[in-house]
Amino acid sequence: MKKSIFFSLLILLTGSTVIFSSCSKNDEGMATRLTLYDSLGGTTLVKDPTSSTVMIEQGRLGIRSVVDSTIFVIAADPKLNGFFKVLLAEVTAGNTSGFAELSKNLTDLFCAATGSKNFTYAGDDMVTAHDPAKNPRMNGKAATTDFDQFITDLVAGAKKNKLPDNLIGSVGAIVNTLRGQVVQK
Ligand code: HEM
Repeated sequence: MKKSIFFSLLILLTGSTVIFSSCSKNDEGMATRLTLYDSLGGTTLVKDPTSSTVMIEQGRLGIRSVVDSTIFVIAADPKLNGFFKVLLAEVTAGNTSGFAELSKNLTDLFCAATGSKNFTYAGDDMVTAHDPAKNPRMNGKAATTDFDQFITDLVAGAKKNKLPDNLIGSVGAIVNTLRGQVVQK
């Protein structure tokens, strides 16, 4: 799928996020740059499995599926679910609005970070979102071991969606660029 992988840097949030891309040739034989978003399915429109009347970009659907699976993995993970106390209490009470917002924000973030041109992230910057003093939905400061566990759960979420290992590695590398902003302990 990918021929050669190289990196281009994008200043996206308060720090830097990496867009991973690879080379391919278009119909005229011209070299074009395939983003990780393209490799994840790109802009091809497909039916959204959650609503038969809605179309969604295949890349976004793949990312959203991984994000939602990961949220479920984290919700069941005693090493991390304590951080999400507010969210989990809402969901237990039947209120899924916070889940929907987190899913959208994480999906937008990963779409933008992997090279999508049609989606942008409009949530809090990563330092603010993970500072319990500024975001009361973040129950405690994350340590680097928590961050490692987050990556473990993300990989589990990606594997549930049968994402190939090379793409999991590329997504994991993007996530790792945010470690210094998320870890505040
Ligand atoms: C690179 C890794 C991570 C990314 C990309 C990420 C991304 C995000 C985003 C986009 C939000 C929503 C911000 C908003 O709504 O404005 C968020 C919220 C949150 N994150 Fe992270 N996060 C990461 C790692 C972690 C880790 C390691 C933890 C816990 C140890 C954590 C705990 C939380 C919590 C508790 C919230 C609030 C959830 C809610 O809405 O109730 N995150 N994160």
